Amino acid sequence: MYDLTPEDLERLPRHVAVIMDGNGRWARSRGKPRLFGHRNGVENVKSVVNTAFEIGIPYVTLYAFSTENQNRPGEEKSGLMRLLQEFLKRELKTMMGDEVRLRAIGDLNGLPEFARNAVMETIEKTKANKKWNLTLALNYGSRQEILQAVQSYARKTNGMEDDLNWETFSNYLQTRELPDPDLIIRTSGEFRLSNFLLLQAAYAEIFVSPLHWPDFGKVAFVDALKNYTHRERRFGKTGDQLATASTNLLPENS
Ligand code: FPP
Repeated sequence: MYDLTPEDLERLPRHVAVIMDGNGRWARSRGKPRLFGHRNGVENVKSVVNTAFEIGIPYVTLYAFSTENQNRPGEEKSGLMRLLQEFLKRELKTMMGDEVRLRAIGDLNGLPEFARNAVMETIEKTKANKKWNLTLALNYGSRQEILQAVQSYARKTNGMEDDLNWETFSNYLQTRELPDPDLIIRTSGEFRLSNFLLLQAAYAEIFVSPLHWPDFGKVAFVDALKNYTHRERRFGKTGDQLATASTNLLPENS
């Protein structure tokens, strides 16, 4: 069904995270308002997420609204929140049928009440779904997440613990239930992470597409996956070491 060989299918990422950029530019190039771009962006969310799950990628995380996006005009923000609410309402049936569990990372308290309620209700209704995992980063900022994790760690341990390691610390991050992303896709040709999953991305492969998000459809997504399957992930080891050991396992001190 998709242009992926059996070898590609064996090397697929387990967790793909996406920075969906360029809705505004996509709309502007058509002489339309920014929200038109976001609306088409949501349609594309459906298409790419479905493709990911159909192909067998169990974790998909989408950067839907950053803490910095709070600085956008009120009309754009409320439009985005309405789109989010509509999306969740419309997709609930499919999520239940396909066994998709929704999670959110970010400070949901910073969302308007109607949007927060829609997110929390969908999280609650889908929490027993075990097959696929869709996480929305909403009012999310990685630095804020890290500071919050440090604070809760300090509170919990009273500053007494001195053998902190990544495994322990990562349990204080909002992504604690997710594996680290293997592949981060960013659309619109920008080469930056923009405060997205900064620590979790330590060993992620990054794929930048020149396409704006509404144009980054199934075919472009599968191309990104194909590109990923041909990369050698060394995790700090040499290529020779990898040839004799099993791959894709994080070494302890790399
Ligand atoms: C970036 O384009 C996109 C966003 C800030 C919002 C992304 C949100 C959606 C696609 C819709 C909501 C999500 C879900 C899951 C329903 P931009 O506005 O920064 O584009 P520009 O850089 O060209 O201005």
